[in-house]
Amino acid sequence: MIEFDGIRKRFGGHAVIDGLSLRVDDGEFFVLVGPSGSGKSTLLRMVNRLVLPDEGTIRVDGEDVASVPVERLRRGIGYAIQSVGLFPHRTVAENIATVPRLLGWSKEAIRDRVDELLALLRLDEPGMASRYPRTLSGGQQQRVGVARALAARPRIVLMDEPFGALDPLTRESLQASLKAIQRETKTTILFVTHDMDEAFGLGDRVALMLDGRLVQTGTPSELIREPVNDRVRDFVGGARARLRELALHRVRERMHRGGVADGEAVDADATLQDALGAMLMQGRERLPVSEGGHAVGTIDLADMVERRR
Ligand SMILES: Nc1ncnc2c1ncn2[C@@H]1O[C@H](COP(=O)(O)OP(=O)(O)OP(=O)(O)O)[C@@H](O)[C@H]1O
Ligand SMILES: [Mg+2]
Repeated sequence: MIEFDGIRKRFGGHAVIDGLSLRVDDGEFFVLVGPSGSGKSTLLRMVNRLVLPDEGTIRVDGEDVASVPVERLRRGIGYAIQSVGLFPHRTVAENIATVPRLLGWSKEAIRDRVDELLALLRLDEPGMASRYPRTLSGGQQQRVGVARALAARPRIVLMDEPFGALDPLTRESLQASLKAIQRETKTTILFVTHDMDEAFGLGDRVALMLDGRLVQTGTPSELIREPVNDRVRDFVGGARARLRELALHRVRERMHRGGVADGEAVDADATLQDALGAMLMQGRERLPVSEGGHAVGTIDLADMVERRR
């Protein structure tokens, strides 16, 4: 169990965590979601005392983290961070084995666990175990970071955007593995992301954090069905609902007939979602529209939003 009780933190006169209380229950997969700069990493880092609160108490299994020797505290908590933080002069296997070694596991037990985690995290290229972090891709490094966090089977794991650098397919597959491991081992996971899909896919409960405060905490379906205010509604459903809506409309409904624009044309029968994709690919806010191979008009980025009449 992780409890945050009346936490405040200021950086340079600015309140980053603004009177926050939260309880993460045993065996729960808890996801903190919120936009960049909302204070998610700061809050997470307080659990293993990488950041100290100005006010308030954090308890892990009932013990105030401020009164636990920091080595013991960190050894008992798995931690995978946003910027990976692998030891550059240790191999992949040595990185993963860090905590089991500190805990005095036998060589065999460590080797078995490393093999198991390499397979689980799909780090199964030949020779992977003996490579050094700098020879790995960003996504592979991230996965080694996750393996290291899980290695000693800690009861509590903190994860800060651990899948941020992965392509969507690898990401989905690792999300599924993590969720399965968590269910099976009943690990308590506090997971940070700014991706709402990831939050809803993984979390038993999700807390939306805005400007250092928890605006709403609940199950994914509670946040979707009963958002407490418009900011929650926007963050939860707004972005995706709007994108979905773009797929339902054709360029011809919003185009301007007769205009001219530079760039590769989109077809009048393409969806607005296709048109938006083409704009992003080409780095242009306006594109020509063609019909049967002939230029017939233009469409603007601003036309993606329905014109209010
Ligand atoms: N050591 C520090 N000194 C000064 N300001 C800091 C420090 N650490 C964090 N901040 C500021 O606190 C705010 C919250 O940062 P934090 O890293 O917790 O955000 P976040 O929600 O994790 O964002 P992201 O999604 O971008 O990772 C930011 O404005 C950040 O610049
Ligand atoms: Mg962060």
